[in-house]
Amino acid sequence: MTGNNSLSSSGNDPWEVTLELPPEAMRKAGYRVVDFLVDRIVNLPESLFGAELSREQTERLLREEMPENPQDFEEVFGEYLSKVVPNFRQVDHPRFFAFIPSSPTFPSILADALVSGTNIFAGTWFEASGPSQIELLVIDWFKKMLGLPPEAGGLFVSGGSVANLHALTVARKFMLKDRLQRSTIYCTAHAHACFDRSFYVLGFKPNQIRRVPTDEAFRMDVGRLSEMVRRDRRAGKRPFLVIASAGTTNVGAIDPLEDIAAIALRESLWFHVDAAYGGFAAMTKRGAKLLQGIEQADSVVLDPHKWLYCPFEAGCVIVRDHSQLKETFHILPEYMRDTVRKDSEINFCDYGLQLTRGFRALKVWMSLKTFGAERIRRVIDQCMDLAGYGAEHFAESPNLQIVTRPSLGIFTFRYVPTRLSLGDPRDEAYLNRLNQTLIARIIAGRELMLSSTVLGEKHILRFCVLNYRSRRQDIQEARLIIERLGRAIDREMLKD
Ligand SMILES: Cc1ncc(COP(=O)(O)O)c(C=O)c1O
Repeated sequence: MTGNNSLSSSGNDPWEVTLELPPEAMRKAGYRVVDFLVDRIVNLPESLFGAELSREQTERLLREEMPENPQDFEEVFGEYLSKVVPNFRQVDHPRFFAFIPSSPTFPSILADALVSGTNIFAGTWFEASGPSQIELLVIDWFKKMLGLPPEAGGLFVSGGSVANLHALTVARKFMLKDRLQRSTIYCTAHAHACFDRSFYVLGFKPNQIRRVPTDEAFRMDVGRLSEMVRRDRRAGKRPFLVIASAGTTNVGAIDPLEDIAAIALRESLWFHVDAAYGGFAAMTKRGAKLLQGIEQADSVVLDPHKWLYCPFEAGCVIVRDHSQLKETFHILPEYMRDTVRKDSEINFCDYGLQLTRGFRALKVWMSLKTFGAERIRRVIDQCMDLAGYGAEHFAESPNLQIVTRPSLGIFTFRYVPTRLSLGDPRDEAYLNRLNQTLIARIIAGRELMLSSTVLGEKHILRFCVLNYRSRRQDIQEARLIIERLGRAIDREMLKD
């Protein structure tokens, strides 16, 4: 694919300017990209994490005027390889245990390439009957996995944040008729921060949000939920929505879904479950048990780009009565009238915020069909086993203290020098400083990726296992790295 290619097919006809490339050039460039992707995957376990440059460095490296003249694709790709690829962190690396990892399967990666390559408009049945049927089918699989009734339905969106916004918009419409005055919402302080954004966008003020206290495992205290709802009602407020987490981002805590469902029913609250992180654990026996009660939700959010091994972006919102999504979002401008079909022939643009939307369900469909649910279920189970193994292996270290036990695939811990292991509160400031330095050193070392959080007053480290490539050896290496860095930091701090 050469930059010297003429921009018009005949060379000098001003009416034939095109962006088309010759077939051989397209094939060559495509194979080059596939080769890069496969080589990258093969080398991933041995590779260091990418570097993080400063803004000054990235400006120097990449800043330029919009290019006026053509360049060879090989050259452009080469620039991507040399200037961009070394400077991002690989969230699919087997030793990426930070935040919520994402490790897409190759069929799901190819599905995204196919979606871009065919540029399917998945907004209307008229333009995408086949893709729309796949989206309906995949959502039916999810509904069955969660035990939701046949009338439930939903759609794919970019991710959990947007999916939660869709669910809350429906709840606002059907519970409040969009009248927000005196309404109140209940969730814990551990609900994902994206809800704060949704509250703002939907017009709820901070004083309408009730943070329900949590128990010792950071799950919603349902007794307090009941009390708070009743007290608010007595005070003339309008409680209408409870948000439960099925796997908090912080520690993987699952709110007591069955108990919350019972309170929601009794108190006529909309019961929303944010299962963006933990929802696909329901594919496994133990996960389904942990998530019992989710089948009673009025709305649920799932993120296939997390524990269903699909590339970004893939979020999903499901509402118990799917017609409510349509009643919330449907509009019909005159220029879309040609697309109206029978009710059963769904226009997904009527069910959410986007008109133009990509065909995100394909990656789930391709991956699930290629591997089969049984294999994916085993991989999800393996991640939970590995998190259990990790917590045990870390607990055997004289210097690592488990702070929260594994829940789904997350446990938390901190480095505690043996001489400080007696729990003297005066040591806490020292431990916080040590663990903050530790996370910074781990990240800078580029052999391992973890992230930190704060629980109460404690600065601690999170360990989230979600990658199908992670092995026990990765966890053993992680412990060695953490112990080595922790010891060195402790020595340095004692000297200061
Ligand atoms: C529990 C939970 N909810 C919502 C989100 C937001 O999802 P997204 O980042 O896909 O927008 C996350 C992201 O980590 C999450 O863990």
